[in-house]
Amino acid sequence: MKVIASHNGLQAAQKAWNLIQQSHPLIEACVEGVSLVEDDPDEHTVGYGGLPNEQGEVTLDAAVMDGRTHRGGSIIGLREVRHVSKVALELMRQSRRVMLHGEGADQFARACGFPPENLLTEKARKLWRLWKRTYQANQEWLPADEDEETRQLMQILTKFYRHPAGTVHLAGQNADGDLACVTSTSGHCFKTRGRVGDSPIFGAGLYVDNDHGSCGSIGHGEANLLNCSSFLAVHLMGQGMSPRDAGMATLEHVARHAPTFEVDKLGRPNFNLQLYLLAKDGAHAGVCLCGNWQIAVTDQDGSRLETCEPLHSADVP
Ligand code: GLY
Repeated sequence: MKVIASHNGLQAAQKAWNLIQQSHPLIEACVEGVSLVEDDPDEHTVGYGGLPNEQGEVTLDAAVMDGRTHRGGSIIGLREVRHVSKVALELMRQSRRVMLHGEGADQFARACGFPPENLLTEKARKLWRLWKRTYQANQEWLPADEDEETRQLMQILTKFYRHPAGTVHLAGQNADGDLACVTSTSGHCFKTRGRVGDSPIFGAGLYVDNDHGSCGSIGHGEANLLNCSSFLAVHLMGQGMSPRDAGMATLEHVARHAPTFEVDKLGRPNFNLQLYLLAKDGAHAGVCLCGNWQIAVTDQDGSRLETCEPLHSADVP
């Protein structure tokens, strides 16, 4: 038995582990873990408190995938419901369809009884307005005030400008050896209206093959979409690679195919991607293109954060 998650999923992994131990269905336990992150107003890349699109509207994406049945559910651009992963789980349970987007997703969530709520917290709203007045400055908007609150918000905004994509990914394996995984996100901060990232796309933001392993990702979604990273990593584990080697080979593939407008002077990607891999034999790995990132792990030895191995030793310039 094991649960792994992205750096922001330590408590989520613990919760999922506890539920798996209590014999809850695996996929349900994984979604319950991720719901904790979707509830956190200070996690600005997932669920309630997520940063909005360029129009100030919070839209959420998530997908769930169950290895034992090889079924999944995906919800794209959901508004006014924080637990988008639970809506994706309901789609998997109730429908022959595997993906809903926009108004259809909103209607499905209402039909399932999820109550609407405003997902834009005051802090997220202020960050969005500060972004408009700082990075979208034009003849319309005056520069932001120079007070202490603005200075603190600016620090957060600068961090997001460096790493515009967050997301949470969580994967679990139960005592029968079955695998399942979930990815949930509010997407790139201040994204273009209608933009779809990798998180709700099977094979990109997550993928599981019960015979081989699971992989999920956070980071620059477009790179995963163009390289089917999660599918590729699981496929490589199926060819006999360890999770670490499969993750590294996938990142090398992504780096080799980075578009010319997204590479630094050395030809390396100027974005980041983190992959979280869990193999059928229970081995796991966290890898990233560069920088200091962590993977959350819960197993019989307890809960901990481990270092993700970077493909490039130096940080992105
Ligand atoms: N990886 C999250 C996104 O790009 O939307």
